[in-house]
Amino acid sequence: MNQQNWGSFKTLLGHLEESVLTLTINRPDKMNALNQTVLSELAQVIEQLEQDQNVKGVIITGAGEKAFVAGADISEFNGADLNRAMEIASKGQAIFDRLEKNNKPIIAAVNGFALGGGCELAMACHIRIAAEQARFGQPEVNLGLIPGYGGTQRLTQLVGRGKALELMMSGNMIDASQALQIGLVNYVVNATALMAESKKLMRTILTKGPQAVARVIQAVEACFDKTKNGYRNEVTLFGQCFGTAEMQEGVSAFLEKRKPKFN
Ligand code: COA
Repeated sequence: MNQQNWGSFKTLLGHLEESVLTLTINRPDKMNALNQTVLSELAQVIEQLEQDQNVKGVIITGAGEKAFVAGADISEFNGADLNRAMEIASKGQAIFDRLEKNNKPIIAAVNGFALGGGCELAMACHIRIAAEQARFGQPEVNLGLIPGYGGTQRLTQLVGRGKALELMMSGNMIDASQALQIGLVNYVVNATALMAESKKLMRTILTKGPQAVARVIQAVEACFDKTKNGYRNEVTLFGQCFGTAEMQEGVSAFLEKRKPKFN
């Protein structure tokens, strides 16, 4: 597969240079929100890179200066019922799971808002490097929802139960230095240095034995395999949100640009 093939997506920009694929989620006018097209294209990319010997590592970032990814595309939630919601969560989880299990190192270069599905995408990457202006959060409760793309599991794994519960129950956003403090990100750097630092770390990893690196990923992954029921459970609970009046209110309020009234 050559460089040209990475340019053939509607919502992703792919650039292969010195064996590192930089993948940019490219919907800057919608804060790079993950709609179904982005998710399907991400799935395609993951499949391609598993087979492409020219790609040794991947850096994922967001287009524009404001957002990495500001979540799942909320406009696609309107009108979905329990079954559709469970499909949405299962699809998102499957894609992020495959990303996380990928044998090639994957770094999230978090250039701005990483909220909801965006935080979940960053957490499915092996390493996270944040620009100083990056903001993190799982604001789903503002919509009468919970994370559905693995967030309830991965956030707990990364930052521990107490902070994970706080972030998911409050919907509060944290800045990059707070994210560093709780272990949600590996480094915080100036925005101008974000891609260079991400590439530098990638270069270090790529000088190591690729099979050993792949086995590190598999070995760490094995730590968490027993939690798979947690992911299944998340799909069901996410689906159940879609039967609630509060979720209808939360999503409508966002789309109508007003504050939701839950009580
Ligand atoms: N889904 C769909 N559209 C989204 C989106 C999302 N998750 N996040 C942002 N957008 C859209 C906005 O609706 C807006 O579209 P418009 O220009 O057509 O009205 C555009 O992106 C710009 O966002 P805006 O809210 O105007 O920017 P802001 O700088 O004032 O605020 C955020 C930025 C990220 C704080 C805010 O957009 C936000 O809270 N987004 C939702 C985050 C969220 O709840 N994510 C979890 C989803 S489950």
